Amino acid sequence: MLRRQVLVGAGLAALMACGALPAAAQETIKIGLVLPMTGPFGPNTGHQINNAIKAYMAQNGDTVAGKKIEIILKDDGNVADTTKRLVQELIVNDKVNIIAGFGLTPLALAAAPLSAEAKVPQIVMAAATSIITERSPYIVRTSFPAAQPIPPLVDWAVKNNIKKTISLVADFAPGHDIEKAFEEFYTKAGGNLMEKVRIPLRNPDFSPFLQRIADAKPDALFVFVPAGMGAQFMKQFVERGLDKSGIKLIGTGDVTDDDVLPGMGDVALGVITAHHYSANHQSPENKVFTEGYAKVSNGGRPNFMGVGGYDGIHLIYEVLKKTGGKTDGDTFVAAAKGMKWTSPRGPMQIDPETRDVIQNVYIREVKKVGDALYNVEFSTTENTKDPVKAAKK
Ligand code: PHB
Repeated sequence: MLRRQVLVGAGLAALMACGALPAAAQETIKIGLVLPMTGPFGPNTGHQINNAIKAYMAQNGDTVAGKKIEIILKDDGNVADTTKRLVQELIVNDKVNIIAGFGLTPLALAAAPLSAEAKVPQIVMAAATSIITERSPYIVRTSFPAAQPIPPLVDWAVKNNIKKTISLVADFAPGHDIEKAFEEFYTKAGGNLMEKVRIPLRNPDFSPFLQRIADAKPDALFVFVPAGMGAQFMKQFVERGLDKSGIKLIGTGDVTDDDVLPGMGDVALGVITAHHYSANHQSPENKVFTEGYAKVSNGGRPNFMGVGGYDGIHLIYEVLKKTGGKTDGDTFVAAAKGMKWTSPRGPMQIDPETRDVIQNVYIREVKKVGDALYNVEFSTTENTKDPVKAAKK
């Protein structure tokens, strides 16, 4: 009897020393949520995701598989070195079971080696560059791959007689994925990509480029700017008179982000975008989400970042139900692969091969619904995958 107790005790001590406490002994599952809560991406990314998680937990409780869920929120201020330090502290000191959030690509990439080394599940709820999911086998993405909307958007553009286009993207990794995919798909479909413009991510000034674009007179301007930046883009688009130039504005849905769209004014009417989420998506699931989001945010409207957070915490809850509360990287990821559910965005699935999102892409037009501007979906391409990963095969 004594001998057995000693053996069990020694085994547990060894497990604790390497941080692998058996799931049954955990009373709490800790999730380290690392987001840009301050700086230019605070409102449209960090706060969106944090609010959406609050809404989900208010609706679904804070206990899963008999364990209490504890969120430890950290603000990385959109600085990759800070993300890395915070994730290290969360894993080593706070002994979190899961890391989540990751507002922009450089921040997700800074955390990936730590997830890989410590075998900690990393749920990417925002950042969208294709390569991210390949940087740790323990990454699962619930946001979107940046270039996913491109094939359906190009299809729409070509069918609508858009023969000459100029592209304008924010000059960082997701912008590069998007620019490359747009060039490939549009050119293959017979379109003429007249010029490719890149705008710095920090302190962007669109005006000089917009003047050049006005002079070049393409049929359309294709644009990608990250969540939140669409407000300034649209302001300068109008200041340069492009809204009256006859040049059609098309883009990924990032530019008409639901968080900034209501403030853009009627100049945004008619903008055509392709994306996976609109706050106007007509479904019972989205009604629950938008109402829950409004409650925790003083009447706010969720955007595509918010839905990435809502689905991310949903994925965590469903995985924990399947694993009986086990969170080690291998068990977690095995349970997440192939998981399917009806999100507020529509049907979604975690690709069992890539751990990325398979989902619908919708073509939308900015319209007035009542008094407010919304991205109104009018056509759907079902079950799309990341075209960048598909091209590598
Ligand atoms: C990214 O950093 O990957 C990113 C951020 C915001 C977006 C899209 C992509 O809207």
